[in-house]
Amino acid sequence: MKCRVCDQPIEPFMSFGQQPIANHFITPDQKGNEYFFEMEVATCSNCGMFQLIEQPDPEVMFHDNYAFFSQTSKSMQVHFKAFADYVTENYLKSEDPFVVEVGSNDGIMLRNFKNDGIRHLGIEPSGNVAEVARKDGVETLCAFFGEDTANDVKAKHGAADAILSANVMCHIPDIHSVAKGVAALLKPEGVFVFEDPYLGDVVQKTSYDQIYDEHVFLFSATSVGNAFKDYGLVLIDVLPQVTHGGSMRYVLGRPEHHEISENVSRQQAWEDEMGLAKPETFEKFKQNCEKSREDLVSLLKDLKAKNKRVVGYAATSKSTTVLNYCDIGPDLIEYISDTTPEKQGKLSPGKHIPVKPHAEFANNYPEYAVLFAWNHAKEIRANETKYDEANGKWVYFVPEVSIHGE
Ligand code: TMP
Ligand code: ZN
Repeated sequence: MKCRVCDQPIEPFMSFGQQPIANHFITPDQKGNEYFFEMEVATCSNCGMFQLIEQPDPEVMFHDNYAFFSQTSKSMQVHFKAFADYVTENYLKSEDPFVVEVGSNDGIMLRNFKNDGIRHLGIEPSGNVAEVARKDGVETLCAFFGEDTANDVKAKHGAADAILSANVMCHIPDIHSVAKGVAALLKPEGVFVFEDPYLGDVVQKTSYDQIYDEHVFLFSATSVGNAFKDYGLVLIDVLPQVTHGGSMRYVLGRPEHHEISENVSRQQAWEDEMGLAKPETFEKFKQNCEKSREDLVSLLKDLKAKNKRVVGYAATSKSTTVLNYCDIGPDLIEYISDTTPEKQGKLSPGKHIPVKPHAEFANNYPEYAVLFAWNHAKEIRANETKYDEANGKWVYFVPEVSIHGE
């Protein structure tokens, strides 16, 4: 296998076993017909890119029934307003700026530009979410982003002052086609600003659940700097974010038009110190994942032996990796409560734990709830004070398996 970025040979350092499509919640009649792939991961010792060895076809993962809608979370709405304000304040200096977002989902970020009367265009491959954005007045093109799409957009709307993306770049295996598209569509002084879960956080917190089919890459400042340098784009700033349990915002531009923030060298130095491109770091990460699995499974088996009622809280994409890697099914977790109507009544990918509406949880509290949406712990715990008052306990597994609320 060759590195998807720099073409150097790479070897997997670990496998998370057979994994289904993380967001394919299935109906009972689809049992036995699921797509599985072996989820192995590698880091490139040359360019530092952390990546999946094999990734299912994008057509298998993103389709018209894609279950992910960004707007479900309040805190993410607040986050994207702040992201939009950051871009406007720092990088939209021209008379009639034009902002493009790659993977604009239901328009959660672009609606902020729409509300400010700023020219914008979302590029979103999933038809159903693109339609939701359009209904909301967010200009959206239903397409995959690459050089051809970039040239079409430029011909129709002109060059972009800013190209944005959130939790999308790490999904696109052909990073070179994205880089070519960005280079073609950006004004000379334009910026490319994107954010994604940060490899440094994943390694530090053993949050291996960030690794699933859609996340073909986990980025660092080092690997992002390397990935775009051949296209005349350099990292001009990096800004850590709390979203998704630890993300990084990367700002890229052409060096002749931008000063480079000290944040960039500071972050890359920290990554060197952490050993984020070294095999030893990932050997240790693998051991930490195995320990996390042992601890979680033994806790759940222990609770079952004590006849405790255990449910899951939030049927996240991330939970698919945990449940399948740890081999946790409905025998250990009765059901998963989730607020997304499209997931309710379905079964979790691979392990077939029923997904039920939140009312099921609220009307008959279990004794333990495994918090799969651990990145939203603050918001969720604040909403569920009654569960705590009813003596309900929470099981966390990041940064380590632990019980909260006791
Ligand atoms: P994600 O982490 O893959 O974005 O999925 C988030 C899922 O968690 C989504 O299906 C909605 C669900 N969820 C809840 O059920 N309750 C909550 O309080 C939060 C924040 C999310
Ligand atoms: Zn590489």
